[in-house]
Parts: sequence; structure tokens; C-alpha cells
Amino acid sequence: MPSGSPTAYAARKTDDEWNFGVSKVSPIDDPLDKRLEGLERRLVLNRKRQEIMGHLRNLMALVDTDQIEAARREYADRIQRASADSRYKYRDVAYYTLQKLLLAYKLGLNRGVPHSVLDIGTGAGHFPFVCRYFGHHVVGIDIRNSFYDRIAGSLGVDRTHVAVEPGKLLPYLGGPFDLITACAITFSEIRTSNRRKSRIYWSLAEWQFLLDDLMAHQLRYPGRLYLTLNKQWHGRFFGFDLLSFDRQLLTMAARNGAIVHRSKGTIDLSLASRRPLSLQPSG
Ligand SMILES: C[S@@+](CC[C@H](N)C(=O)[O-])C[C@H]1O[C@@H](n2cnc3c(N)ncnc32)[C@H](O)[C@@H]1O
Repeated sequence: MPSGSPTAYAARKTDDEWNFGVSKVSPIDDPLDKRLEGLERRLVLNRKRQEIMGHLRNLMALVDTDQIEAARREYADRIQRASADSRYKYRDVAYYTLQKLLLAYKLGLNRGVPHSVLDIGTGAGHFPFVCRYFGHHVVGIDIRNSFYDRIAGSLGVDRTHVAVEPGKLLPYLGGPFDLITACAITFSEIRTSNRRKSRIYWSLAEWQFLLDDLMAHQLRYPGRLYLTLNKQWHGRFFGFDLLSFDRQLLTMAARNGAIVHRSKGTIDLSLASRRPLSLQPSG
């Protein structure tokens, strides 16, 4: 089934943590007004949700819809061929901006003083878009990708082309930052061949190196690091993909002071509550 069809899209399971039960309520390529109406129908009965919807409307008024339309046309063939879960889903700026608004609320970015934020693997820049709207200074880093660049351009967001690499310190990025986020992380995956989903994942030592680097060089005390992992693929079993979050990484983070949500794959670590990161299990 082509990924662009509404049926394929509706059938896709949403993995978002704070989606208020909002499903894919209208076809992804509907005009923004229609997408907003569809999303709004699910949010009317709750004051906080209405407030968030108000922000979403304000944000959508800032989107350059001509740029989105141009990107849709330019990438039409690839969109049609790609799976529903490919990067092209991020052209749905209403839906993915809503997800990042919900994240901003969760992290308290909708109120208080301006913060400096580093968003790692920022994708099409929906989170920087939201952070900037709430008055924060944000740097979004990612590898080069022309489709993401196009969508980020429609949001008026710059993507800084810096790759996260195992065992390599990040360069100076204009910090230190009060908050570092990385959502739906894929930088820790290394493709091993062209075979579907064939890949290996970072070791704990490689994770420790990155976390130490972020804590020592990029985060300002008492800063916060918020990560959402992607599930890792362990092969197929009776026709089903075996997927799970990196339990060892979650365990390591928890032992070192992070608040970890095992079923959602989130790591929330504050410099103030951090215990020295260690690969060794503590007693
Ligand atoms: C699943 S997307 C998530 C995008 C965004 N964080 C979000 O939640 O919408 C993963 C992102 O990580 C980026 N990425 C992959 N490898 C990377 C690397 N080595 N360094 C930086 N970003 C990387 C991808 O280009 C992509 O934008």
C-alpha cells in the first residue's frame, strides 16, 4: 500500500508519548486549516488542550505553506514509494508541531525565563520552531538532508549540520545550554548493509562518551538532558519485528541518577541529580 494514501497513514501506529489520543484525523496532505480542524476536534473538552491548540494555530500561521507544497511536489515520487514511517512523514507540520508543543509543556518551556536549548538530531526542526515561539534560544543539529532542510525552511528554522559520531567530541555549538534534547534518536544506529533494517547500535561505552561530553562541555549547571530513544531491531520472529528499547542503556542511566521511563524509552537527567556515569552496575 503506498505510504501517501490516507488509509496507510491512518493505519500507522502513533508512537508519540503525549498525543492526547489524537490519531491521524485527516489525510496528511490536507491544507493546514483542515488538519487543524481535525486535530482540534479531539482536544475541545479540556482547557489546557485548548490552550495548546491556540499555540498550534499561532504556530501554523507562521508556516510558509508554499514551501511545504513545493517540497511535496518535488518529493512526490519518493513519498509514494517510501514507508509510512519514513522521514517524509515530517511534512505533516501540524501533527509534528503539536507533538513538540506537548513536549515543550512537559519540559516547562511554555512558561518562565528564556532558556538556551540544544536539540540533537533535530529532524525537520519542529522542536526548535516551538522553542523559539516560546522565546527560547535554540540550536538544532543534524546531518545533511535536503528534505528536512526544505521542511525546516518552511518553519523558518535553521538546521546546523553537525553529526554526532561515536567517540568524537561535539564542537562548540554556541552553548552552554540549559536544556539538551534528542528525540526519536537514530544517531546511535549504524547501518551494516543494504538489507532492510540491518544495523548495529552503539555500545554502552559509546553512550557514556556522549553523555560525558554533553555534561562536561555543552550543559550549564543545573541543566537538564532529555532523551527519547527509538526501539532497536533484533530481527524477525514468526513474521513479527522484534523491537525494544536499549534496556542496558536505560539501566545505566537510571543507576546514574536519571529518571527513566522504561516502556516509553525516555531518559531525563539533571546535572544537579546526576551521579557519576558508570558502566558498572551499582550495588
Ligand atoms: C527519527 S528522526 C527524529 C527527528 C526529531 N528529533 C523529531 O523528534 O522529530 C532522527 C533524526 O536524527 C538524525 N540523525 C541521524 N544520524 C545522525 C547523526 N549521526 N548526527 C546527528 N543527527 C543524526 C536524522 O537525520 C533525523 O533527523
